[in-house]
Amino acid sequence: MTAPGPDPDLFRSRAVEALLTARERTRVLTACVDERELTAQHSPLMSPLVWDLAHIGNQEEQWLLRTVGGHDALRPEIDSVYDAFEHPRAERPTLPLLAPAEARGYVADVRDRVLDVLHSAPLHSAPLHGGPLLEGGFAFGMIAQHEQQHDETMLITHQLRRGPAALSAPEPPPAAPDTALLPTEVRVEGGPFTMGTSTEPWALDNERPAHHRFVPSFFIDTLPVSNGAYLRFIDDGGYTDPRWWHPEGWEQVRRHGLGAPLFWRREGTGWVRRRFGVVEPVPPDEPVLHVGWYEAAAYAAWAGRRLPTEAEWEKAARHDPVSGRSLRYPWGDADPTPERANLGQRHLRPAPVGAYAAGDSPQGVRQLIGDVWEWTSSDFLPYPGFRAFPYREYSEVFFGDSHKVLRGGSFAVDAVACRGTFRNWDLPVRRQIFAGFRTARDAEPV
Ligand code: AVJ
Ligand code: FE
Repeated sequence: MTAPGPDPDLFRSRAVEALLTARERTRVLTACVDERELTAQHSPLMSPLVWDLAHIGNQEEQWLLRTVGGHDALRPEIDSVYDAFEHPRAERPTLPLLAPAEARGYVADVRDRVLDVLHSAPLHSAPLHGGPLLEGGFAFGMIAQHEQQHDETMLITHQLRRGPAALSAPEPPPAAPDTALLPTEVRVEGGPFTMGTSTEPWALDNERPAHHRFVPSFFIDTLPVSNGAYLRFIDDGGYTDPRWWHPEGWEQVRRHGLGAPLFWRREGTGWVRRRFGVVEPVPPDEPVLHVGWYEAAAYAAWAGRRLPTEAEWEKAARHDPVSGRSLRYPWGDADPTPERANLGQRHLRPAPVGAYAAGDSPQGVRQLIGDVWEWTSSDFLPYPGFRAFPYREYSEVFFGDSHKVLRGGSFAVDAVACRGTFRNWDLPVRRQIFAGFRTARDAEPV
């Protein structure tokens, strides 16, 4: 990591803002249900909400108070309770968890002290005290992203929870313009591009370093696959034809009797779905959501196509064929705005396919950032030159062929944890996450 970079006070104010934004969202997610619901386990796939809450504070304490600030542990006895590797999610309700009031007090106490540490931390490339952990305010950015990631996890818990709606319905997302004239797919010419980053100050270890990748010519969908398109796969018997399925996906379909995305139910001649406690007809123009990787891959095979590789996705999102540069976001280097992408739980749902023309990539691929995470065909692997930083358990222990990469972020991701280089990953059977997909195909070189 290099040059003295921008003003440390700029990073300081960005870090304060990112931490406050995350905390306000955490408050919203934990204030709208009662104590019993905070401590209940709504699904064996998820932690009780109160575990996420105190885990957020405990990670913040470990990195920002102890490691950066040099403080002693506030409550050393709780570290093991909130260690995600020691206790799988299913077992967390049985742990001696802090009660909701205690957990709230703990995270607030940690935060007060963190703001003092941040106020005086040297956020330039000073190898004096924390070294690269402080450069550009990285540790603070990492912890703000960690809180936002758990906010998305808590939103998934809200989605899995039964009973009436708890979160209040915000303003609906923008409508899509008429998409009839949009090309259905975009051709990306073969050639090298720069994948990953070495300069984005808050990029996490798995996004680094920037490196050249040759990507052969391909076509990629202009838009994410819609519910309407996915319904044609269902109606064509997609879930009953093993031809389209990976053997393990077919196994999942048969064992669990899958026939539609998670949270969908047939009603009369149509389909309804439950979202955050509200049952409504499936909107045909919304990106399909709550499909696993096996379903996404099966749909693509049925359509005579395939999922994009991770490199294809990133090239479609970042490569500017005019300058040859890779942009931070599809629309350029500026941070996300409400006109460009649906992020941060602002609308609590994806926008219709075709929305956010202002967020188009240089080649006209739309809605790459926000709305729904997009499954790629790729396994989660390190980039050449990867170095675990600052801890192996963020990325490194997940590398291999078990997890598939998702890109682009969802409506439930905050902008601080979403960029053209950001990599997410999950097991191919996972369906509760806010994931959809778009498809691709090979192209002959010109
Ligand atoms: C990057 C979203 C897969 O939630 O499991 C949170 C992020 N890592 N705490 C996850 C994370 C440690 C991670 N994902
Ligand atoms: Fe965590």
